[in-house]
Amino acid sequence: MPGFELVDQAERQSVLDVFDKSNGVLFAHGFDVRRNNIFRVRDFEKKFAEKFKGRKAAACTSGTSAQYIAMKCMGIKEGDEVITQAFTFIATIEAILACGATPVVIDINDTYNMCPKKLEAAITSKTKLIVPVHMLGNPAEMDEINTVAKRHNIPVLEDACEALGASYKGKATGLLGDIGIFSLDFGKTITTGEGGMIISNKEELVTRCIKFIDHGHDSDPSLPRGKDTASFYGFNYRMMELQAAVGLVQIDKLDHIVEMNRKHKKILKAELAKYTGKISFRRITDENELADTIIFNLETPELADKVVQLLAKEGMGTKNVPDAMRWHFSKYFNQVWDNCGLYSNYGSQWKESDDLLSRSVSLPVMVNWNEGDLERMTTSLNKVFSAI
Ligand SMILES: Cc1ncc(COP(=O)(O)O)c(C=O)c1O
Repeated sequence: MPGFELVDQAERQSVLDVFDKSNGVLFAHGFDVRRNNIFRVRDFEKKFAEKFKGRKAAACTSGTSAQYIAMKCMGIKEGDEVITQAFTFIATIEAILACGATPVVIDINDTYNMCPKKLEAAITSKTKLIVPVHMLGNPAEMDEINTVAKRHNIPVLEDACEALGASYKGKATGLLGDIGIFSLDFGKTITTGEGGMIISNKEELVTRCIKFIDHGHDSDPSLPRGKDTASFYGFNYRMMELQAAVGLVQIDKLDHIVEMNRKHKKILKAELAKYTGKISFRRITDENELADTIIFNLETPELADKVVQLLAKEGMGTKNVPDAMRWHFSKYFNQVWDNCGLYSNYGSQWKESDDLLSRSVSLPVMVNWNEGDLERMTTSLNKVFSAI
């Protein structure tokens, strides 16, 4: 997810402009004259929305806060159950708990995303939200998930933090459920350092999120801020102008990032395909996935370990699988389960996910790779797979 690879003079200049053209006004709101009426966070939201058929977007402080804001604005509360998947980033679980609700964590399938069959079985009268996560760029099976959700009249929040720029059956990830959230942290497709974005086909839901992000402010332009009205409550999850200054430049790089990811992944995957028999690829739900990662699995965890060690010798790292499973697989979220009294048997829970993930290896795909990099990788992969 390589927005950071492309940070250059343009982002630097955009940040300097906050000082040179807007007298250093860092708030997203107010100080209209002093800032020369330039509102970068609002402009960033509009520019981001252009990538999503002009749907309304709400900027906030992080992908984690975006999850929480979206859930609060959908009315998630104590006593509710929220279904999500075992392979995710821990933020998904944290946001559910922060609402006072109970996370119900189900297995993934060979897409490495939520298993729609397990979803149906996990629904109870308390289920109030379903949160599929498009892990490492591959969209979840949204048709099947939406069918189950509609049958039970339960809304869907897409965690698209790792899939900005992907699409599924012609529709952008983020607009496939009732609401979608993105992370703009430093590891993501485009970055603002820290940051998040919320998008929805339901404009009134995004409007509520915008209010929640800013203490409930209606932001009535005819009123001074101190006299502003409020129709919803909130907190402070506002993005700063400095972040939006970077985001305004990065969003223009998104199409290039996605194009290069897809090009490089195709080349690397064709190389890896030579070792079919030794490895199997993750099932991709749509060729217009984000394509910033390749996941494959081996027959046994021991073989996967060996491949990781051999890759390391060749100077090739992995991405999240297996190097950051501690934060991405619910089996390892002991700090959550122990403190919340949930899943007392978490060490042996989620067997199907565990079987798959323990045999899996994930390789990053970078935007700035050149022919030399790709040739070196081809040679290295050859060495690795000849040795197993
Ligand atoms: C799937 C997923 N959800 C949520 C988040 C949280 O985003 P942030 O780091 O912006 O809080 C991340 C970030 O790694 C993520 O990968």
